[in-house]
Amino acid sequence: MKILITGGAGFIGSNFIYYLLGRYPEDELVCLDALTYAGNLETLEEALQSPKFRFVKGDIADRTLVYDLFETERFDVVVNFAAESHVDRSIETPELFLRTNVMGTQVLLDASRKYGVKRYHQVSTDEVYGDLPLDRPDLFFTEETPIHTSSPYSASKAAADLLVLAYYRTFSLPVTVSRCSNNYGPYHFPEKLIPLMISRALKDQNLPVYGTGENVRDWLYVEDHCAAIDLIIRKGTIGEVYNIGGHNERTNLEVVKTILRELDKPESLITYVTDRPGHDRRYAIDPTKIHRELGWLPATKFDEGMKRTILWYLNHRNWWERILAGEYQDYYERMYSHRS
Ligand code: NAD
Ligand code: DAU
Repeated sequence: MKILITGGAGFIGSNFIYYLLGRYPEDELVCLDALTYAGNLETLEEALQSPKFRFVKGDIADRTLVYDLFETERFDVVVNFAAESHVDRSIETPELFLRTNVMGTQVLLDASRKYGVKRYHQVSTDEVYGDLPLDRPDLFFTEETPIHTSSPYSASKAAADLLVLAYYRTFSLPVTVSRCSNNYGPYHFPEKLIPLMISRALKDQNLPVYGTGENVRDWLYVEDHCAAIDLIIRKGTIGEVYNIGGHNERTNLEVVKTILRELDKPESLITYVTDRPGHDRRYAIDPTKIHRELGWLPATKFDEGMKRTILWYLNHRNWWERILAGEYQDYYERMYSHRS
C-alpha cells in the first residue's frame, strides 16, 4: 500500500509514521507537511533513513501542489493529520484554522476523488462534541452525540468532519472518520498541557493552570491512538465514524500533580491563571463501537504512559529545548503575560 500521511512532522502524525514503519515494511509512506511552527523535521530524522519513506514540504490547502503529488504518487490511502491543533491559538487567529482545517481538508478530499484513492481517513477529535458537565460522570460522548462545538478550533474540525461525510454521501468517496480524546507521549509540542508542564517543571518555572484546574480530559497514550487509526484504515467500515478513548479521565490538577510527583518537584510551582475563554469542562469518550467492531482496546495505562512520557522528555532535552529557544518565547509571552 502507498499511504499519504499529512501533518506527519507533528505530534501524532510522526508517531503514526513510526508505528507503520515498524509494522508494515512493505508499505510505502509519503509525508506531506507544511512545517508550520508545530512541524519539526528533526522528529522524522530516523524515518528519513528508510527507503520506504519520503517527505514532501507543502501545504494541504495548495491545490496545485496537492494534485501534482497525487498524480505522481497514486496513493491507495490518505490519512489526514494536518491541522492547526491548539485551542488557545484558535482564539487568537481563527482564520488560519478555517484555512488549514476546512479548506485544506476540502482540497485533500477533491484530490482523493480525482485520483481514485481507496480510503480517505480524517483524524478528528472528541472536541466536536463540545463538553460534558462535571457533575454527570455517567455521561459519555458516543458517535451519535450531536456536534456542539465551543472554540474556533473545534468548529473548524467539525466543519471538516461534515465535509468528509458529505463527500461519502454525495460522491461515494470511501471515507472513515475517527474522533479521539486527548493524546500524550513523545514529540508532543510543549504548548500543550502535559509537555508544557514537564518542560517548565524541569526548569523550576511556574506551572500555569487555567481557572481552578478542575476541568477534565480523557487521556490516551499516543501509540494507542495510532493502533486504532491503523485498524480503522485496514478494517473499518466505509462511511463510519469511530470514537477513540481509553476511559482515563483526570482533572488538569491531577495531571499536573502527577508530573510534579514523578519529577520530585514541589506543588508550590502551581500557579492559577485566568481561564481559557469558552473552556470545555469535561471530555469523556465512549469507545464501545471501535472495541465491538474492530476489537481495539488501549494497551497503555495512564500511570505507565506518564512514566514513559516523562522519561522521554528527560532523555530528549535537545528536542524540546530547541523549540523553547525559538519563536516559542514570543508565543509564551503573548499567551500568558496577560493571564496572571
Ligand atoms: P500538531 O500541531 O502537533 O501537528 C500538526 C502538523 O500539521 C504539524 O506538523 C504542522 O506542520 C502540520 N500542518 C499544519 N498546517 C498544515 C498545512 N496547511 N499543510 C500541511 N501541514 C500542515 O498536531 P497533533 O496534536 O499531532 O494533531 C494531529 C491531528 O490529530 C489534528 O488533526 C488534530 O486535530 C487531531 N487530534 C489531536 C489530538 C491531540 O490530543 N493532540 C487528539 C485528537 C485529535
Ligand atoms: O480532546 C482532543 C484535543 O485535545 C485535541 O483535539 C487538540 O488538538 C489538543 O490540543 C487537545 O486540546 P485541549 O485544549 O484539551 O489540550 P491542551 O493541552 O491545550 O489543554 C488541556 C487542558 O489543560 C485544558 O483543560 C486546558 C488546560 N491547560 C492548558 C494549558 C496549555 C492549562 O490549565 N494550562 C495550560 O497552560
